[in-house]
Amino acid sequence: MKIFIDSADLEEIADAAAMGVLDGVTTNPSLVAKAGRPLRELIVEICELVDGPISAEVHATDLEGILREGRELAALHPNVVVKVPLIAEGLKAVRTLSAEGIRTNVTLCFSATQGLLAAKAGATYISPFLGRIDDISGDGMSLVEQLVTIYRNYDIDTQVLAASIRHPVHVVEAAMIGADVATLPHKVILQLLQHPLTDIGLERFLADAKKIPSK
Ligand code: E4P
Repeated sequence: MKIFIDSADLEEIADAAAMGVLDGVTTNPSLVAKAGRPLRELIVEICELVDGPISAEVHATDLEGILREGRELAALHPNVVVKVPLIAEGLKAVRTLSAEGIRTNVTLCFSATQGLLAAKAGATYISPFLGRIDDISGDGMSLVEQLVTIYRNYDIDTQVLAASIRHPVHVVEAAMIGADVATLPHKVILQLLQHPLTDIGLERFLADAKKIPSK
C-alpha cells in the first residue's frame, strides 16, 4: 500500500519525506487555508519536496470552471493530480481531463455507487472518506472494502485511496483489505512508528552501552 501525507504544511511534509515513507501528498481547501498560502505556489513547493502524485483540489463546481482550474493546476507540475468533487459536473470534468491525460482524484466519496461512477468516468484515484463515515456511526472501512472488491471484479484501474484516516488501526485495516493508497495526517504517520517496547528497549541498550569498557 502506498502512503501519502494528507497535509499542506511544508514542515510536516518535509519531515515525513525525510523518513523515506512518503509516496505522495493529498491536500484539500481546508488544509490549504490552514497553511495560509496561495494554492498554486504552495503546490509547486510541495512538488519540490516529494517526487510522487500531489493532489490539488479545484474550487469550482461548474464544468467549465473545473476544467479551467484543473488544467491550470495540472500545468504547474507533471506530478499534480487534479482533485475533483464527486458531483455530476465533476464526473463530466473527469471524463474530459482523463481524455487529455490529466490524472484525477475524485474526492468526497461516501458510497460504492458513487465510486463505481467515478471509475466509469475515468478517475485515477477514488477517495472514500472513511473517518467521516465513522463520525456519523457508519462503517467507513466497509466502503473501502466494497470499492476494492468492485474494482477487482471488473479489472478497473482506478486506485482506491483510503482518506479521512484517523488512527493506526484504520491504516492496518485498509492495508489488509488491499487499498492501493492511504493518505494520513502527519500525526498518524508518527503514531505508526511508536511502540513503548521500542522506547524501553532503546533506553536499556543505551544505559548498558555506557557500561561497556572503552578499552
Ligand atoms: C483526503 O484527500 C482528504 O483531504 C482528507 O483525508 C479528509 O480528511 P478529514 O475527514 O480528516 O478532513
